[in-house]
Amino acid sequence: MTRTTHGFVPVEPGLAAPTLHTVLVEQSVSPAAPASGVSSTPRLGVLTGGADSPGLNAAIRAVVCQGIGAGYQVYGLLNGWRGLLNGDARRMDEGTVRDILALGGTILGTSRLSMAMDQADAATVREQLTHLGLRGVVVIGDHETLQTAHLLSRHGVHVVGVPETMDNDIAGTEYCIGFDSAVTTVAEALDKLHTTASAHHRVMVVEVMGRNTGWVALAGGLAGGAHRILVPEAPFTLDELAAFVSKRSMGGHGFSIVVVAEGVNVAATGPRIADNPSPQEGGALLFGGRRQPTPGELIGEALERLTGLETRVTVLGHVQRGGSPSVYDRLMASRFGAAAADAAIAGQWGSMVALRDNKVSLIALAESVSGLRRADAELVRLTETLTGAASGGIYSFKPLVAG
Ligand code: F6P
Repeated sequence: MTRTTHGFVPVEPGLAAPTLHTVLVEQSVSPAAPASGVSSTPRLGVLTGGADSPGLNAAIRAVVCQGIGAGYQVYGLLNGWRGLLNGDARRMDEGTVRDILALGGTILGTSRLSMAMDQADAATVREQLTHLGLRGVVVIGDHETLQTAHLLSRHGVHVVGVPETMDNDIAGTEYCIGFDSAVTTVAEALDKLHTTASAHHRVMVVEVMGRNTGWVALAGGLAGGAHRILVPEAPFTLDELAAFVSKRSMGGHGFSIVVVAEGVNVAATGPRIADNPSPQEGGALLFGGRRQPTPGELIGEALERLTGLETRVTVLGHVQRGGSPSVYDRLMASRFGAAAADAAIAGQWGSMVALRDNKVSLIALAESVSGLRRADAELVRLTETLTGAASGGIYSFKPLVAG
């Protein structure tokens, strides 16, 4: 089931529900997929796969414009790898990508199919590429999408990768499309939560995405003035956290904002987590079954119990993946997309564009799938220092100039 603005509608497992813009693309491009050998003009494909993030459309636009500028025909494959497996391709031209720079989501649609794809699919993909007359494909996507791209590449499929995930943790690159927009959303949410937390003198626990790493929590929490930031990279205990929050309260700080990355290991935080939270404590019904409380909900419940301070939990969820891309994401997606098209045109298959030493570079896809890029220790230390967590002390900002 996929949630739409109209409610829950059934869709084929793994297939993204068609969006308004997917429909527009289907209507605005040539209806028939090209057959091989029809044209001597070289052709390049582009697809978006896995979880979306703001900036995908800016990257698609750059691939299309750069490809056309180099004398190529560019074809968009719909709904990630599914489009390639089914030969579901649409011709893209300047008109197709007009006005999409500032648009969130992806006009090509996406799917999680990459997770299920096995090596046997490589032969089908190669056949489809030949049938469509495509020399290769620019693949814009997350970990799973790039893993599939790497697997296919090892089986002779021509691909160039572009890193995209708001988690910002793909190995080999200092930046992934979507991170800046997501972090901006987190910081804006924290600005809003500050005012209501202060009015009610509450503890606010804010859970953000980042299933394996703490980049979003650290950058968003730092920019949004969180008082504690909990990430998988830095162990903590609930007793210590509760003492920290209580100390803030006793020190005259009327409220506290605690940001939690969804990937924190709550089981490792000491024996303070409730074994069986009641429905009121986070066991609400979802999809007809009782869902597990999230890490943020478990930590919020324990904090209230241990400190006696009124606590509320906000799970930001997919709102972090939506909306218009930030200026930085528009720029990075444009630079990555154009560089990926250049690499494909130069026949540098099996590579991925990356940000290295703040420059757009080309690395081997193998490097990008070699592991996760964890949040760097310097950022963790900085957040600990600026929140006072490092010393266990609480900062109380005094005016520099005596009044
Ligand atoms: O984009 C990665 C991510 O944001 C993770 O942090 C999160 O766990 C996941 O996507 C959830 O995505 P979905 O609900 O679309 O599977």
